[in-house]
Amino acid sequence: MARKSLVAANWKLNGSHSLCEQFARDLGVFDATDVWLFPTALHLSLMVDLFKQRQNVVGAQNVAIQQSGAYTGEVAANMVAELGGKAALVGHSERRSLFGESDEIVASKFKIIQTAGLIPVLCVGESLEKRDKGMAYEAVQQQLQAVEASWDQPDLRHHVIAYEPVWAIGTGRAASSEQVQEMHMFIRDHVNQNSNNLESEIRILYGGSVNVENAAELIQQQDVDGFLVGGASLNTDSFNGICEIVNS
Ligand code: PGA
Repeated sequence: MARKSLVAANWKLNGSHSLCEQFARDLGVFDATDVWLFPTALHLSLMVDLFKQRQNVVGAQNVAIQQSGAYTGEVAANMVAELGGKAALVGHSERRSLFGESDEIVASKFKIIQTAGLIPVLCVGESLEKRDKGMAYEAVQQQLQAVEASWDQPDLRHHVIAYEPVWAIGTGRAASSEQVQEMHMFIRDHVNQNSNNLESEIRILYGGSVNVENAAELIQQQDVDGFLVGGASLNTDSFNGICEIVNS
């Protein structure tokens, strides 16, 4: 089965009521590409509402490791689902490095996201240090292995993996198309070894300084099914531009 391409916007700690409305007004409609939106938790409900007549999935950038209780400031996966969110990012390198999320925490969150009926978008990627030491594949493999025990096989085909080398995020220095294709192939092979041939259905996105200039070359790679876009997703012109490139 051919994989449908997917472009996802990760707004991080950016956005406003008016940006949400601008996206609802100006985001294009793309027949051959899914377009998913990850605003802040505070804007999730508004975005679900604004996009309720459209096909776009709206999701959370993060969920709590707990289901409920005395955890001031947290947002639970089942609350995201109740509000109409359909997916959640997990394992983003900013969560790992700035908020101390270990592989174990990522695995627990992954499970909680699945249990809430949300689609997990698992982010993996090596640091520059690991890449320079020739340990990029090992690092990514370790991150994949950490969540494997939580993989729900029948649902695996709906899962999304985003390969985001840490050194390419927000730096303006995207990985080369060869580096990306090699790692995506490695990830797909790895999924294959741990699933019943679902690797051909799982979507693998690239993330890290994707923009309208580099999107065309990257999307031509066989195992690149789309993008997770940070900076360039905050502007409807550049985000529409990337979606158009992927859609064609
Ligand atoms: P960037 O971020 O496109 O700004 O590099 C990507 C991401 O962190 O998901």
